[in-house]
Amino acid sequence: MVDNRKVAVVGCGFVGSSSAFALMQSGLFSEMVLIDVDRARAEGEALDISHGSPFAAPMRIYAGDYRDAADAAMIVVTAGAAQKPGETRLDLVNKNVAIYRSIIPNIREVGFEGILLIVSNPVDVLTYAAMKMSGLPESRVIGSGTVLDTARLQEALGAHLGVDPRDVEAYIIGEHGDSELAVWSSADVAGVPLKDFCEMRGHFDHEQAERRIADEVRNAAYEIIKRKHATYYGIAMSVTRLCTAIMRDEKCVLPVSSLMVGEYGLSDICISMPTIVGRDGIECRVPISLDDDEFGELHRSAAALSDVIDRAGLR
Ligand SMILES: NC(=O)c1ccc[n+]([C@@H]2O[C@H](COP(=O)([O-])OP(=O)(O)OC[C@H]3O[C@@H](n4cnc5c(N)ncnc54)[C@H](O)[C@@H]3O)[C@@H](O)[C@H]2O)c1
Repeated sequence: MVDNRKVAVVGCGFVGSSSAFALMQSGLFSEMVLIDVDRARAEGEALDISHGSPFAAPMRIYAGDYRDAADAAMIVVTAGAAQKPGETRLDLVNKNVAIYRSIIPNIREVGFEGILLIVSNPVDVLTYAAMKMSGLPESRVIGSGTVLDTARLQEALGAHLGVDPRDVEAYIIGEHGDSELAVWSSADVAGVPLKDFCEMRGHFDHEQAERRIADEVRNAAYEIIKRKHATYYGIAMSVTRLCTAIMRDEKCVLPVSSLMVGEYGLSDICISMPTIVGRDGIECRVPISLDDDEFGELHRSAAALSDVIDRAGLR
């Protein structure tokens, strides 16, 4: 029996603890289990975060184990090695697949029936791995994918155009990593095609601006890691957004990573595309139109991920 008021977070490092903190403030759940191989770390975070709950909403927060997470509505997995300066997300694959082999079978063993949200990197490969290892239906294993990258794109475009980023409708799709791509061809602001909106705001060099902003988004994590060794606030907000969409059955469109079953000619990989997300997890992918260049880039991104999945022995 799934308890809709309960969430578990596995991995209480920078990303896990920030996500737990953001979730506590959201008031979405009333019970949160924190799990980490470093039990003292989980206990410390549970104590610290629980001291903020009187300023938010009542919540029972404690360090626990997988049995405590068995009836959770959602388990958010953030455990794993993080990128070091100069490392790509794909460089983490062997370490983090090994860590997942010590986590996901426990989740399976306790009979978890909720939604598994994968955040550790490389998130697309680990979403695929978690789907295989958990035995859960593919609709209930979701990677945070390019939700954060898309937020970065909206933020950068909002600043460029002097408009609220929430009014920017533009997606980053593909791998959450170096081969990701911005879908410029269907981007708009309040229904006005992006290029027209740019010109309305006095920007005419579209190619140069698109290149600069896409590079800025793609390299954002490297820039942050170079300065403060980790990224966590943006992803914590992304996790909270995803949990909200799922628990409130919002059926909103978010570019999560999930198993492709023939869409855009892609199958047997997890990759990010705009997707309707609700209480049952993945509902369906939204067939946004791509121009020929974007279609080609998406296929190159998928080929890079497929190669890593093969090399990690996950098929
Ligand atoms: N998807 C995204 O957009 C996104 C954004 C930022 C970071 N990340 C990824 O999130 C992951 C965590 O990053 P971080 O900065 O929090 O790292 P961190 O080193 O601060 O924390 C990792 C935590 O995982 C725990 N852990 C390790 N093995 C475990 C196991 N077997 N069981 C339970 N817990 C275990 C560690 O004890 C540690 O507390 C990394 O893979 C990072 O690349 C993803």
